[in-house]
Amino acid sequence: ARVVALVPAAGRGVRLGAPIPKALVPVCGAPLLVHAVRGLLAAGCVDQVIVAAPPDMVDVVLDALSEFGPTVRVVPGGEERSDSVRLALDEAVAIHPDTRVVLVHDAARCFTPPEVVRAVVDAVKAGAPAVIPVLPVTDTVKQVDVDGHVVATPDRSRLRIVQTPQGFDVDLLRRAHDQQDAPVTDDAGLVERLGEPVATVAGHPHALKITTPFDLVVAEALFSGAQL
Ligand code: C5P
Repeated sequence: ARVVALVPAAGRGVRLGAPIPKALVPVCGAPLLVHAVRGLLAAGCVDQVIVAAPPDMVDVVLDALSEFGPTVRVVPGGEERSDSVRLALDEAVAIHPDTRVVLVHDAARCFTPPEVVRAVVDAVKAGAPAVIPVLPVTDTVKQVDVDGHVVATPDRSRLRIVQTPQGFDVDLLRRAHDQQDAPVTDDAGLVERLGEPVATVAGHPHALKITTPFDLVVAEALFSGAQL
């Protein structure tokens, strides 16, 4: 079964404060996006990677990814993250009509261990139509109203932190995107709206999302000595 990984990397990375798109920001000697693609391919179960780049930077991104050859394609991304995913998904189906499993992986989670990628792919291949990697929540989480007053304290033991790659049966992901009516922050959220089940597998602390300058410092500290 062909496995295609979609990498939305078309964000500007405003919260990181860098003058270039986040995907191209260097960390541990290479752009974030290069680490992200290496990690996906190191899993040994991904046949094709499709990156959604900032529309005005497709050539620059293609150049940054030249070491991977035709295994990695670059398409112009869209307005919102979900638009970028949709555009990459259309490309995947156009070039590989036999695609069965689709991963959606944030470029920002560039040090996700290959075993997390394999666990997600294995679970989809075993019959789960939607699979997400998760971690337990260690902090107590409060829900607040617009004024910041606490309205609820959800039972922490039932909460999970959600990572990527998220894995899907290709037809389900297409259906989920076709009926999208409001923005969501992850693709599994669209599947939930269809009323379809979403399974979980163990995520990993190393799959942290690099969003702020603090995260960049943490990533450098964790991985600069590592064999990448
Ligand atoms: O904004 P956030 O950090 O949640 O974005 C997650 C991922 O989605 C990032 O890798 C970013 O580059 C990507 N993205 C995209 N197209 C957009 C906005 C964000 O591919 N229009």
